[in-house]
Amino acid sequence: MNRYFPLCFLLLVFFSRPAQAQQNTKQIFIQTDKVTLGFTVGKNQKLYQSYLGEKLANSQDNGLLPATRHEAYVPAGTDNLFEPAIRMVHTDGNPSLELRYDKHTTQQQEENVTATAIHLKDPKYPVEVILHFNAFQKENIIKTWTEIRHKEKKPVVLSNFASAMLHFDAPNYWLSQFHGDWAGEMQQQESQLTSGIKIIDSKLGTRAHKYQSPTFLLALDKPAGENHGELIAGTLAWSGNFQFAFELDEQNSLRILAGMNPYASEYRLEPNKPFVTPAFIFTYSRTGKGQASRSFHRWARNYGILDGNKPRLTLLNNWEATFFDFDEKKLVGLFDGAAQLGVDLFLLDDGWFGNKYPRNDAKAGLGDWQENKTKLPSGIGYLVEEAEKKGVKFGIWLEPEMVNPKSELYEKHPDWILKLPNREEHYQRNQLVLDLINPKVQDFMYNLVDDLLTKNPKVAYIKWDSNRSLTNTYSPYLKTEQSKLYIDYVHSLYKVLGRIRQKYPHLPIMLCSGGGGRVDYGALPFFTEFWPSDNTDGLERVKIQWGYSNFFPAIAMSSHVTSWGKQSVKYRTDVAMMGKLGYDIQVSEFNEKDLQFSKQAVANYKRLSDVIWFGDQYRLVSPYDEDRAVLMYVSENKSKAVLFSYNLQTRHRDRFTQIRLEGLDPQKKYMVQETNLYPETKSSFTANGKTYSGDYLMKVGIAVSPTTALTSAVFEIVEKP
Ligand code: DGJ
Repeated sequence: MNRYFPLCFLLLVFFSRPAQAQQNTKQIFIQTDKVTLGFTVGKNQKLYQSYLGEKLANSQDNGLLPATRHEAYVPAGTDNLFEPAIRMVHTDGNPSLELRYDKHTTQQQEENVTATAIHLKDPKYPVEVILHFNAFQKENIIKTWTEIRHKEKKPVVLSNFASAMLHFDAPNYWLSQFHGDWAGEMQQQESQLTSGIKIIDSKLGTRAHKYQSPTFLLALDKPAGENHGELIAGTLAWSGNFQFAFELDEQNSLRILAGMNPYASEYRLEPNKPFVTPAFIFTYSRTGKGQASRSFHRWARNYGILDGNKPRLTLLNNWEATFFDFDEKKLVGLFDGAAQLGVDLFLLDDGWFGNKYPRNDAKAGLGDWQENKTKLPSGIGYLVEEAEKKGVKFGIWLEPEMVNPKSELYEKHPDWILKLPNREEHYQRNQLVLDLINPKVQDFMYNLVDDLLTKNPKVAYIKWDSNRSLTNTYSPYLKTEQSKLYIDYVHSLYKVLGRIRQKYPHLPIMLCSGGGGRVDYGALPFFTEFWPSDNTDGLERVKIQWGYSNFFPAIAMSSHVTSWGKQSVKYRTDVAMMGKLGYDIQVSEFNEKDLQFSKQAVANYKRLSDVIWFGDQYRLVSPYDEDRAVLMYVSENKSKAVLFSYNLQTRHRDRFTQIRLEGLDPQKKYMVQETNLYPETKSSFTANGKTYSGDYLMKVGIAVSPTTALTSAVFEIVEKP
């Protein structure tokens, strides 16, 4: 090696790096029960990240944390040589920003939530950047976002606006991302980061997720397992274009930037108007992915989804049973199926509206939200009543953001549609997106929901769909401000949803987006559940639900038994039962035994659902590691558990090892009982009907994996006095 190397290296580092904070002047800590994110104000008044990791046992030790060379929220235009968190061009054309610590405030928002705001100011320009952090103590979740304000005479232009910037120094970095497509959402992929930038993003406009999900796990040093390894798990609460940038520099330091995608989104910000980014929500774990997921699930139930601690409705949906081909009589007939199964609600899907252009297929009618008089001459009210007579509630499908060119709405309001002038219209599923940024369109959407619920106050559920992304897009309302479109679309959507929630705070609404396109914590506070994928094939669904389970709780994951997949009804039901159970199938086509099984399964689910919805989840064997998948839920007081076990297409009779259970109380005794058995079958597991100590179940374990391809088993594990 060249003998001058070390000196050259040092000089290079010296000249290419921003000035380091040499002496601490102030320290700020964002803390939960187990996690600390620390900042230091340098002598130069810049803010540096000093720590992100496990909370120190002695708070006095916090004072020892050294200032690092990592400026917390790096602005562009001065001495930064890497990807910036923020870039701004001032009114006078100056393309730089300097951020100096001004003050910070800490407030106890509620017993469990501490809110910290760190104010940074440019010494020369009237610009303020506020870094917000909400620390959720018990759930060990930190929610962070950025607020940008200025008092310049005219608008400034923002071209980067990260929600968060985090820094890491580890020997290696292992990134798990979740990618996919329609019917193949949330497939997990892990790779080691190499130098340079890895970007995970989306530019779909109406949704964040489909090809890439706005979620990731980042393991430090070595790949993390379910119960070991150091990692952070993060997600962006945003239903539009997002970007995560992972930049590994020449000193092996990693900076993560998370936020809205800056792509085609330069934002002219008026004076005195705050620009508030969506939140980046993350947790840190030194004990693997399972802990991180459980933290997310608990947080989601308490703060991230609507009514996360309340029970859900089981349902029968008609989409896959009828598609567009139904009328009043047929629907009323289907109610019998719902009643037979014992589910709570019947959900009428697409195809019930449009008269001049009836919605008899996906080509017409979208936007014309009046009952189709031929199919439903007696209207929605009649259906609600008929369902009620059979003891089931009634819910309905809407796709309020969209329009078919073959519709009265399109004819009446061509200026309400997002489409490029001087270009041909570009369709996905024969439809276009409404210009939601226009307040008149927002009113139209709000009124559509409000009118429906005012006329039919007994409608007990809505499925909110959104079946296309933005292409060839242009907002007639925004005129010369087109680069605001992607950001303002999502804000406008949240505005409408907020209005709906003000009037209907607890109505269950499912978030759907042509399969699982809109699963994020930006939208979920308005929704009680989401549709993970149109793919309900039992086998493929195991992996899809597994992927989502890293960040999203079972109570929000609508999982339906349909005719997709060649597996038995029992297998498909066992898979759907690990989420929020529903059906999307012709019940009348079940044979006698399948019907008997399904009725019993719904009853079993009602008995077990408290543990599935509100318990802690332990993923025991991943479908990515073996030809089987095993996971369990344990109630908070550890008195009950449910274990799901799936054989995945093994080609011969595999011998699977015993499984050590998790999350139980070692002191307690538990009876293990296989449940959800198909009529006239008996359990073949030796543990069935036996009682074990929690200690034994967790140290020795039991056999729970069926050996025949595509078979499954569900075990109920109950404390014995
Ligand atoms: C896409 C959804 O994912 C389906 O469940 C169904 O609601 C159709 N849209 C209806 O058009």
